[in-house]
Amino acid sequence: MQRIQINHEKCILCGRCAQVCTMHIIREKEDKMVAKDVDCIGCGHCVAVCPTGAVSLGGKGAITEDRFDAAVLQKQLPLLVRQRRSMRFFKDKPVSAQDIAPIMDMLRYAPTGKNRQSVGYVLLSGQALEDFVHYSYKLTDSVSSMNLFSSLYYDRGNDILFRNAPSVLIAYAPAEFYTAIVDVSIALTIFDLAAPLYGIGACWAGFLMNLANQDRHMTSRLNIAEGNKILGVLLIGHSDMDYVATPNRNDINLKVME
Ligand SMILES: Cc1cc2nc3c(=O)[nH]c(=O)nc-3n(C[C@H](O)[C@H](O)[C@H](O)COP(=O)(O)O)c2cc1C
Repeated sequence: MQRIQINHEKCILCGRCAQVCTMHIIREKEDKMVAKDVDCIGCGHCVAVCPTGAVSLGGKGAITEDRFDAAVLQKQLPLLVRQRRSMRFFKDKPVSAQDIAPIMDMLRYAPTGKNRQSVGYVLLSGQALEDFVHYSYKLTDSVSSMNLFSSLYYDRGNDILFRNAPSVLIAYAPAEFYTAIVDVSIALTIFDLAAPLYGIGACWAGFLMNLANQDRHMTSRLNIAEGNKILGVLLIGHSDMDYVATPNRNDINLKVME
């Protein structure tokens, strides 16, 4: 099937699809807009800009939905950004795929380099997480900066790696692609930001990301296809701490050069 399809009955030849096409593969030919398939990255800007719904991509037209309310978000988004917190206190119940379904659906729309959309996720809970916790603490013994972690955990119950989270969200992407780490970081940032809207708390797990980076076997243990790399980990759970004020931060470091 052709990737970009133009319904010539609906098309009014406004040319906007050609104007926005990142890959310059849409043009007007003999009073018709035509699109080449070759080089299409499937970004969907042609669909997004068409005023008559004439363009579809891979058989899918535009999603019918309200446009966002800038006035509301101008007030609400800064509050959300300031008030989201790294959550390290969780109710004693795992996060199910259903609990995070609305958030995961947003991640489908996260931007990715060349629109590759190749970030994958593993949601770990229960026995699978327990096994992963033990595996990870074993690994810390061979990392000099973390070699106290396992005794702190097993002797004192101080869980520095997982913060006793009932679930963990692991994100991976094809290792060879130069935007892989950014793709994963953008997706998990959206998750981290949206999570409090659904009563979910999240905390970036930098120590685990360091471990994953040093261990060749972690991906296969998690049944992640070869060629992928774990590039982001969030500890997640149902939040069990109320934060009531916003801590202050450094001034922004912005140099303007004109
Ligand atoms: C990339 C990254 C890695 C992090 N790794 C950890 C971690 O391993 N354990 C932890 O408890 N917090 C971790 N954090 C949370 C930071 O400590 C936290 O973002 C910072 O103290 C600011 O607090 P806030 O997120 O509540 O604003 C990490 C944050 C980021 C962005």
